[in-house]
Amino acid sequence: MTWDESVLARLRSAKRWAVLTGAGISAESGVPTFRDAQTGLWANFRAEDLATPEAFLRNPGMVWEWYAMRRDRIALVRPNAGHYALADIESRVEAFTLITQNIDDLHRKAGSRRVLELHGNILRTKCFAENTVVDRWDSVDVPPKCPRCGAMLRPDVVWFGEMLPADEMREAMEAARNCDVFLSIGTSGLVYPAAGLPFEARQRGAVLVEINPEETPLSPYAHLILNGKSGEVLPTLVECLNSGGK
Ligand code: OAD
Repeated sequence: MTWDESVLARLRSAKRWAVLTGAGISAESGVPTFRDAQTGLWANFRAEDLATPEAFLRNPGMVWEWYAMRRDRIALVRPNAGHYALADIESRVEAFTLITQNIDDLHRKAGSRRVLELHGNILRTKCFAENTVVDRWDSVDVPPKCPRCGAMLRPDVVWFGEMLPADEMREAMEAARNCDVFLSIGTSGLVYPAAGLPFEARQRGAVLVEINPEETPLSPYAHLILNGKSGEVLPTLVECLNSGGK
């Protein structure tokens, strides 16, 4: 791994940070990624059977149970050193926006404050018909019924074919366009519109840093590639930024 000193100098003086995270940042917490050839969720399940509104309407019980199983596992996992390092950077810089595709809530658990969840949050539930968040229900059906309107409840995550939350996406775009440095961490960079954000930032003059053990379609455009696990690389990056040298 090469820690390019001129890029690090730009990071040290950067005031506005935008960060995009994907499943890779939670891998060291024990949350499976999507596209790993062996352990990835999409290697073992078909997205079109589980993560679309059509799949839910076809087989609501199965989809609810699959998300319930993931939610129960995610509720038990803890943030790792990578999540904590990002919360640490946020506390030291002028402006910091953390844009995540993850639905696991681990950034907030690690203390990050400004978090934009582009794909929702698996710990929340909403009404399939009204699209409103529902905190409690008595229904014992699977999936449970909305206490207000009786429609089915579903996880508050974005499924394929659905729009991303408009406010979050607008704020993410603004952060990408106005940052001095953009970090892309643990994402394969294949799912748009999130995957377009680093390009937007680069085009507007930001330093682009990628942290990933694998090459991605973004790699040729990064000013600095930190080729490793985010739970190891990010704490070293924080040390480097603080110490003024590597
Ligand atoms: P992917 O599974 O597509 O990619 C995970 C990335 O993390 C890969 O590039 C890995 O090389 C990298 N990685 C693995 N371990 C890592 C580690 N310890 N540190 C850093 N990087 C590591 O996951 P995403 O890019 O997040 O959407 O996937 C994007 C979206 O596709 C997800 O939000 C989800 C999925 O289908 C929906 O469900 C709508």
